[in-house]
Amino acid sequence: VLDFLVDLDPAGGRQAALEEGVRRAIVAGRLTAGTRLPSTRALAKELHCARATVVAAYEQLVAEGFLTAERGAGTRVAAVQPLVTPPATDLRPPSTFAADFRPGEPDNSSFPRAQWLASTRRALARAPDDLFGYGDPRGTHELRVALASYLGRARAVAADPSRIVVFGGFAHALSVLADALRHLGLGEVAVEDPALPFHPSFLRRAGLSVATVPVDDQGLRVVDLRSTAARAVLTTPAHQYPLGIALAPARRTALVEWARQSDGWVIEDDYDGEFRYDRQPVGAVQSLDPERVIYGGTASKSLGAGLHIAWLVVPDVLLEPLVETARWRVGVSAVEQATLADFIASGRLDRHVRQMRLAYRRRRDTLAATLQRAAPWMTFCGISAGLHGTVPLVETGREREILTNAARRSIGMHPLSAHYSDGRAEGLVLGYSRPSGHAFSGALGRLDRFLSDVSVQSS
Ligand SMILES: Cc1ncc(COP(=O)(O)O)c(C=O)c1O
Repeated sequence: VLDFLVDLDPAGGRQAALEEGVRRAIVAGRLTAGTRLPSTRALAKELHCARATVVAAYEQLVAEGFLTAERGAGTRVAAVQPLVTPPATDLRPPSTFAADFRPGEPDNSSFPRAQWLASTRRALARAPDDLFGYGDPRGTHELRVALASYLGRARAVAADPSRIVVFGGFAHALSVLADALRHLGLGEVAVEDPALPFHPSFLRRAGLSVATVPVDDQGLRVVDLRSTAARAVLTTPAHQYPLGIALAPARRTALVEWARQSDGWVIEDDYDGEFRYDRQPVGAVQSLDPERVIYGGTASKSLGAGLHIAWLVVPDVLLEPLVETARWRVGVSAVEQATLADFIASGRLDRHVRQMRLAYRRRRDTLAATLQRAAPWMTFCGISAGLHGTVPLVETGREREILTNAARRSIGMHPLSAHYSDGRAEGLVLGYSRPSGHAFSGALGRLDRFLSDVSVQSS
């Protein structure tokens, strides 16, 4: 019984060390429910410490719920343990690359710290005391008003503040929405194939079944929705993820038509809709029918994923079921919401997006030019938009080979095949937003040298 105490580190004191040793042994399953612990007298003798130390440690562990102490039965490991997560030894820190072309995050070094701070100050100075209460489960009124105006202006979304619900990221929004849809009786939801892997997985976790619908050069094959049992489809019309295609105009109307006919919904994931470089962004599909399209947006690309702020604009009939499901799961501090409200209302978000648009556009052009020069056999695909593009690879096995060799040279990128339900097409998904402004050309140089070698190998 005492084996687990052998490597006690008494640096923080004998009592704390003893408590920690017992806690760890219980959490790791080395001391199981019902096991009787040695008497305080015996343990004190064994550990060469005062009996009072052991008594105090046992009492603390009883108070925490790890142990029970009953007269006559001694001190035992409790049957029901407090909820303690064992140390996550398998959670490795995220990989870092000298040249990080993995998609998914904007240039975090460009986060507008000073302006954000100014907005926080202003928001806090102005905030009513109610801001620090539980508040509206949809999110603060000010943020929903600011978002309604921003989304109307930037994305042509028909947004009434009362229909906006704020979440801690689109991923969070999707999991709550999936729960709500299942409670409304939906059994199947369609997703694009390829898609971001978390899309289908969140839907499945909510107990929905998932149908996959292929994407061609005009975007989602809307016609194929009819051969599924789905009553909702999750799609990325402005900039298909990961292929980077915009949904063709005829398909946008067909999509909404499909939702009407099947008494269902389109879930529009507009994750990077602000970033279009060759023309004015095409507005959200939601504006075609706000009663049939659930619009989702996020601050993760325009500002930073660490803010954990996203929003849904929902049809009237879904508002109550969604808010009911989301209740107590708002997931965004009211202070951050108030800050974002001020950040939008003061025009700072528009300014920041404009600035970043210029920077990303330049990066996209130089990346495309580098690929063209260093590896002319590669085609950089996707419309001039967003923060990533793709390079299809026809030859089987090439994707893994390139990714492995790139990683050896500390270059990060994502495999395209991981986005397909059956891994059928190989390719690279290349983001150009992660490196900081001053590191981008160095990263590009590294990629250039690497691709030149790959080209030599392949010719
Ligand atoms: C297609 C797509 N949708 C949604 C998201 C995630 O948004 P959020 O960070 O708000 O969960 C991402 C982020 O990588 C994305 O690429």
